[in-house]
This record gives sequence, structure tokens and C-alpha cells, in this order.
Amino acid sequence: MKPPGGRQKGEIMRTVSVINQKGGCGKTTVSINLAAAFKEMGRRVLLIDLDPQSHASIGLNVFLDDVEHTSYDLLMNPRLRIPEAALNIDGDFDIIAASPILSAVEQELSGKPAREGKLVSKTARIADLYDYIIIDSPPNVGLLTFNALIAASDVLIPFDPSYFSLQGLGKLRETLDLLESETRHRVAVHVLINNLEKRTNFSRDIVAEIDRKHGSVVMESTISHSVRYKEAALRGVSIFQMRDTGRLKREFLSLAGEIEERVSVLDTVDIEDWMIRLHGPRKVEEGMLFMLDAPNSNSVYITGEFTNWSRDGIRMSRDGKDGLWKAVLHLEPGEYEYRFIVDGVWIKDPANTDSVLNEFGQENSLLIV
Ligand SMILES: Nc1ncnc2c1ncn2[C@@H]1O[C@H](COP(=O)(O)OP(=O)(O)O)[C@@H](O)[C@H]1O
Ligand SMILES: [Mg+2]
Repeated sequence: MKPPGGRQKGEIMRTVSVINQKGGCGKTTVSINLAAAFKEMGRRVLLIDLDPQSHASIGLNVFLDDVEHTSYDLLMNPRLRIPEAALNIDGDFDIIAASPILSAVEQELSGKPAREGKLVSKTARIADLYDYIIIDSPPNVGLLTFNALIAASDVLIPFDPSYFSLQGLGKLRETLDLLESETRHRVAVHVLINNLEKRTNFSRDIVAEIDRKHGSVVMESTISHSVRYKEAALRGVSIFQMRDTGRLKREFLSLAGEIEERVSVLDTVDIEDWMIRLHGPRKVEEGMLFMLDAPNSNSVYITGEFTNWSRDGIRMSRDGKDGLWKAVLHLEPGEYEYRFIVDGVWIKDPANTDSVLNEFGQENSLLIV
């Protein structure tokens, strides 16, 4: 764990989920070009298309016939890891494409435990592979959007002033507040004014209004209206691949830079803690960090295939605040089943969504390193 008191920028992978329940406000356009801007800045970037309409995949010329694994497989197959699902776009950034079947996820996972945590259980395991993950989400607040929210360190909300949907923005922020209070999952919220036509009085009025209501989270960077975004999407490229788009590139680089700068307002320890609470073990410098939130327990051990299921297990130590029990284990790459022993009682890892049934008909947590 890093010491408290913030962190250096670029030190921790950040997941920027681009979210707005309204269609047509620029989620896909912003996702593609923000991914390209971070890449231009030399960052390692993965774009995840989490919209069954597949606009980001199509807008980058990813032909679904050529794709072996999509974001659907990533959510539904506990064994599929991000490196196997990601495609590289011509030496640019990586993408995990979406297909229409993604719309079945809601129904297929209905009633399943921790169904909102499917994505974060994958993204959190690859924190050393990318600097930024950008998630393009569908135009509604359903299970897919919740997966994007739970996986997010940052929520980027594109807002198109010509649509005038301040009410929608208010609703979305209420949802984020609710999420924060229910899961203790804190995200940094950024509202991005997109498709701005600076000259019109109308858009100037709206921007003033949004600043008044949501000023603290409105970004300084804005994205102007330009027909070239449509042209880029039709050609299957980002604006960074097109000529004579200097002004547009500058706007997106400014946006990427502003997101990167804002990192200092987040508290490292908080982020690491909620990540583990939500998705189980995660990789740290010294090995895999296991954590259990058990404030009223006197002893917690971890046991599993790595100790040959020893009844003694490995003692976890209690972190001063909050009753979090932690252990860092050095594990070679492979699959491991494990359980916690809490005051003598064997339980699965409540934060890990991956599990398998053991011979006693109970669930062992499963970790793939
Ligand atoms: N800044 C912009 N200038 C001009 N057109 C834009 C801009 N942003 C988005 N668009 C266009 O608006 C339409 C909807 O954008 P899109 O990114 O697909 O929104 P969403 O993903 O939220 O549904 C697309 O045709 C896109 O090319
Ligand atoms: Mg879209």
C-alpha cells in the first residue's frame, strides 16, 4: 500500500467511465478521441466498448466477425482475462469490442450476486498493464452502466448544451451520490461540455446555467462542434489520424491533461480500499493483496491451494482503521482457490465475484494470477 496523503500522477491506473443516460450527447465520440489523446501523450490505453450498439467498435473499424472475445465474454466468462480479450488498433491503443449480444447481460445476470462488479473484477487485475482504461457506456442506467460506474475511478459526463438536459444531469449525479453512499465507492465526477458552438447566445446561456448548478465538477476544457467528428467515425479513425484537425486535437489533449491533473484530489488509500472491498484481491508491488472487511472479528486467516488448504492458514493482519484485515502473498501465475477463516469460521471472499463449488457444496473463491 502507498502511504496516505495522495499520490503521484500516473502511479495508479485510472478508469474513466464515460457516462450519460442520454443518447447522442457524445459519449462514443469522447471515448474514442480521449483514448487517442492519452495515447498521443504516451500513455498505455485500453478502450472498452460497453454499449451493445457497438458504436465505438464500429467507429474504429473493428469488424465483429474478426473478433474472438467481446466485452460480453469479459463480463460473462470468469476465466477470460483482459489481455486475451483486448485487440490492438494499428499500433495505437487497445480495444475490447462490443457486440449486440451484450444487451443480454442484464437478463442473464439477473439475481446473480455481485453482478455490478463483473467488470471491475477484471480491470482491477491488470492495473500494471495500462495507465488509462476508457469505458464507453450505453444510453441508460442499467446493469452495464453500473458495471462501468463500479469500475470507475473517474466518471466523465459529456453534456451537449444544444440538448438542454440539465434535469438529466441532476438525476445522474443523484445516482452517483447514491452509489457512493451504498458502496462507499467514491468517484471523481467531471462534466464535459461537448458540441459547443461558442458563438450562439443560446449555448452561452446554457453553459452559464450548468456552471451555476454543477460548477464544481464542470471541466475547464470544452469540446467544440465540428463536422469532422462524424467524418472520423465514418472513416473508422480518431481525429488524431486525420489531417487539419489541429484545433480538435488540442481540445482533446487539453481534456486528457486536465483529467490527469485532477488526480491529486483523490486519496490513494481510499481508492485501494474500495477497490478491494468491491472486487477482491489485487496486485500490488510485493504480491497479491487480500483484504477482508471484518471490523468485529478477533482473528482472520487465509487458506487455500497455496497452503495446501492448511487448517492454520496464513494469519492476516489488522489495519488500524476500519477493521480491514490484510495479507500480501507472493503467488506464481496460475489459478488459486482460497477461503478466509474468520474466528474459526470458513467463508468465501465476499468481495470476489469469482468462485467455484467445492466438494462440500460450498463456494471457494477463485483467483487467477
Ligand atoms: N463535438 C461534436 N461536434 C460535432 N458532432 C458531434 C460532436 N460530438 C458528437 N457528435 C456527433 O453526434 C452524434 C452522437 O454522438 P455520439 O458520440 O455517438 O453520442 P453517444 O455515444 O452519447 O450516443 C454522432 O453523430 C457524433 O458524430
Ligand atoms: Mg454511444
